[in-house]
Amino acid sequence: MRGRFITFEGGEGTGKSSHAALLAQKLRALGVGVVLTREPGGSPGAEIIRHVLLSGAAKPLGPEAEAILFAAARDDHIRNTIMPALTRGRWVICDRFTDSTRIYQGELGGVDAKLLRALERVTVGDLKPDLTFVLDAPIEVGLSRAEKRRGDAASDRFEGESKEFHEKLRDAFRMLAMSEPNRCVLIDASVTRLEVADQIWTIVNKRLDPATAPVALEGVAS
Ligand code: TYD
Repeated sequence: MRGRFITFEGGEGTGKSSHAALLAQKLRALGVGVVLTREPGGSPGAEIIRHVLLSGAAKPLGPEAEAILFAAARDDHIRNTIMPALTRGRWVICDRFTDSTRIYQGELGGVDAKLLRALERVTVGDLKPDLTFVLDAPIEVGLSRAEKRRGDAASDRFEGESKEFHEKLRDAFRMLAMSEPNRCVLIDASVTRLEVADQIWTIVNKRLDPATAPVALEGVAS
């Protein structure tokens, strides 16, 4: 049986990565085989492209070229990590996926929706998350968390954008959650970590019923 595909989306510092990891831990405790991954990246080839994108090295090429690079990374990630895991019945939890491209490159970067749809068609095809958590917090909360996490390191390509950019980003993610209620759930990420984790766990149990997933018999990559 094909595994389940869960994605986490949202602005900077909303806690996607830590909640994706917490969810993976809880599912593994039930015996579910989980692959925890992220975009851009998640496979050796895609991690190289991640470096090019997040260092800002591709920024001078323009948003279209960046979108094409995100798509190239996604293609490698799907072929080498996501699809093999789903086919083996693993649950795949991915920190960001196509919604991020639609919002960062499309709505904020101004890349033509037709180009993005064409890229999706050749990379993602029919693959669609079973469930997407959209983590939402006021931008001050998110940006200060991202700053703390970063320490002395410089902000990455997108963290360094203006306050207006981050406000627009937040609005776009909220719109996404409203426009696809069957797939997306908006989570208030400004409350405590424990409360956010509880909300996520309740929804996963209600919508995907992990208790009925086949128990993994072998070790799995994380
Ligand atoms: P990352 O360090 O993973 O940060 P975050 O914790 O915010 O996810 O950086 C990923 C960055 O790449 C983030 O700023 C969003 C951006 N991004 C896009 O612009 N388009 C995409 O398709 C994806 C997957 C990410």
